[in-house]
Amino acid sequence: MKSLSCIAVLSLLALTLPLAIASDPSPLQDFCVGVNTPASGVFVNGKFCKDPRIVNADDFFSSVLNRPGNVNNAVGSNVTTVNVNNLGGLNTLGISLVRIDYAPNGQNPPHTHPRATEILVVQQGTLLVGFVSSNQDGNRLFAKTLNVGDVFVFPEGLIHFQFNLGRTPAVAIAALSSQNAGVITIANTVFGSNPAIDPNVLARAFQMDANVIRDLQNRF
Ligand SMILES: *[C@@H]1O[C@H](CO)[C@@H](O)[C@H](O)[C@H]1NC(C)=O
Repeated sequence: MKSLSCIAVLSLLALTLPLAIASDPSPLQDFCVGVNTPASGVFVNGKFCKDPRIVNADDFFSSVLNRPGNVNNAVGSNVTTVNVNNLGGLNTLGISLVRIDYAPNGQNPPHTHPRATEILVVQQGTLLVGFVSSNQDGNRLFAKTLNVGDVFVFPEGLIHFQFNLGRTPAVAIAALSSQNAGVITIANTVFGSNPAIDPNVLARAFQMDANVIRDLQNRF
């Protein structure tokens, strides 16, 4: 009798366990402020779905990665993105793609994707790549030099970069584990926010003179 009730308790546990570990879906954009009336609503944590009867092959096709991006800018790189915003077929599928072009000495500056892990493969050139682990892990740098065909992973949320070590242009392709990975470029976000963060706050945070901070803010 005792073992019977034990089995009953165990099977009850087995039944309820999947429910216990269920969770809300992850955010699919930076924020999705709740409203009381659909009239003023725009997104439903992602996109509305197209009527399946009128979906066709073009809804799953993109050619935007055919062309190199223009790298004549301050950092010498250009990220071309294929995500749910320009390829609707990606909606709800949890994946997207980018092409990154680098001028000689160009870099994709330190940044993080709030909603995705990234896996990158070098198509052309030589890249120094790396990411830094979180404070709890001691902010360790994990860096590597990659040649054509080499692959590197940037874990979700961690700050990472790529730098073109070669004397020729470089190209990489990267897949991201979100339909809308988002990107936070550290320098632009911290020094180029709109409106600007009080320079005294950043001066203490970065252990720098407030005038240096103002100079940085003017550049972004
Ligand atoms: C990236 O390249 C595209 C296509 O040439 C261009 O329109 C865009 O302005 C470039 N972005 C940057 C940041 O240089």
